[in-house]
Amino acid sequence: MKAQTVVILDFGSQYTQLIARRVREINVYSVIYPCSVDPATVERERPIALILSGGPNSVYDDGAPQLDERYLDLGLPILGICYGMQQVVRLRGGEVVHGERGGEYGRTSASFKTDVSVFNGLPEESVVWMSHGDQAASLPNGYEAIASSINCPHAAVAGEGGKFIGLQFHPEVTHTDQGLQILRNFLFGICGAKGDWKMSSFIDTTVDAIRRRVGGEKVVLGLSGGVDSSVAALLLHEAIGDDLECIFVDNGFLRKNEAEQVVSTFRDHFKMRFHFVDAAEDFLSAIAGVEDPELKRRRIGHTFIDVFRREATKLKEVRYLAQGTLYPDVIESVAAHGGPTATIKTHHNVGGLPEELGFELIEPLRNLFKDEVRKIGRLLGLPGSIVGRHPFPGPGLAVRLPGRVTREDLDTLREADAIMIDELRNGGFYDRTSQVFAVLLPVYSVGVMGDNRTYGRVVALRAVTTEDFMTADWARLPYDLLAKISNRIINEVEGVNRVVYDISSKPPSTIEWE
Ligand code: XMP
Repeated sequence: MKAQTVVILDFGSQYTQLIARRVREINVYSVIYPCSVDPATVERERPIALILSGGPNSVYDDGAPQLDERYLDLGLPILGICYGMQQVVRLRGGEVVHGERGGEYGRTSASFKTDVSVFNGLPEESVVWMSHGDQAASLPNGYEAIASSINCPHAAVAGEGGKFIGLQFHPEVTHTDQGLQILRNFLFGICGAKGDWKMSSFIDTTVDAIRRRVGGEKVVLGLSGGVDSSVAALLLHEAIGDDLECIFVDNGFLRKNEAEQVVSTFRDHFKMRFHFVDAAEDFLSAIAGVEDPELKRRRIGHTFIDVFRREATKLKEVRYLAQGTLYPDVIESVAAHGGPTATIKTHHNVGGLPEELGFELIEPLRNLFKDEVRKIGRLLGLPGSIVGRHPFPGPGLAVRLPGRVTREDLDTLREADAIMIDELRNGGFYDRTSQVFAVLLPVYSVGVMGDNRTYGRVVALRAVTTEDFMTADWARLPYDLLAKISNRIINEVEGVNRVVYDISSKPPSTIEWE
């Protein structure tokens, strides 16, 4: 049976996907349509509610997207967020003011009328996240303010006989303390949501959609063994079985035992059609003598594309290329749905492949966030060691060897890195950090081992915690754990006589050293 559906009309906000994600989090199915969609199309979804997103425009901008007033006559409960609220206020005869008087950005405290159902259970005062240039100055007839902040007397409004709730702040962002509760109250209290949707339903719907789209044709996927491409592979495999061809490129910059683990998981355990390509030689010669980090990245990126193209063209009759692109990789959210902002750039890191290869692109995870992908991975039986893996850059260990890269240094770094990860896992710190690794510095230092002087290399340890990898802090690992890692590296890794711990945050440093 079809799950109850909420339709989100997208006015171009960066947060539209986040709204969809919050709705999923409270077990209600949602679909996003561009705000220009015809009401008849939306009605065919038989939604239990509409949510109008925010947007980058002012309602007064030329060509600003407009809500079709017929939506207000469908009799559905509507939640208008920011621009979405202003649209309705204006359509129904209220006034929206622009510029200095209208704007407010960041956290602010708001007072709520807790006797209205959408704010049931909330404290009378709590923090909300504002991000708007305009606001409602006067309300349409029959509308009332149900929350206010110091700069915004109409921080929330109710109208249309209680069927319309407008929020000037963003309930979908975590900075709004009671945001999830407000969405819950709206969906369960006002719209009669039952919470009948689960993540496993996403799997069923996606598998079904892939089957319908691909229908007997072949799909190729570059499998890196990271959580995103692994989950994309599993979904496709579930949908089309042996019509999925996975290509795994060993660029020689992988971590210890990484290639073996990927082969045993996907070829041996999941029985996928799996092509292992040992291309270490191609990559090493592409960056031989290269010191500049960006040139290194570019050379590695190009080599990856060449190798992938070479392997993919060996496979006959492939029409589609699948990628594990996630929502945060999609820089402009809206165009994913043909929304008001037309341009879209997909973030192609070194592991990504441009469409110029001539395939049609399939991106089954493009509306999801990382933790949702992990949940799906678990549901599909992906081993914990892959589901919980920290991200690993496409150019791999090559960017953890500042300067020139040689086979010998790769081997040394691989050993040191494995010890670090091993000890973090043993100490229970792997899951409490976001990314951990070793860097082999092109620096020699003097040491003493036994009675002899040594002149060896320096390993830097890096461990960070972060939510989004845009900013990060160095992890406060216990000294005893650092001591253990240092001892083991110096004793077990040939040629290393000194270990240092990187205590730089991002910014101003970056997570990787190159
Ligand atoms: P930085 O070093 O920029 O890293 O703070 C942020 C996150 O991005 C990863 N990273 C890369 N990933 N190709 C990738 O696929 C790259 O060239 C690359 N450079 C950095 C890094 O590991 C961290 O998770």
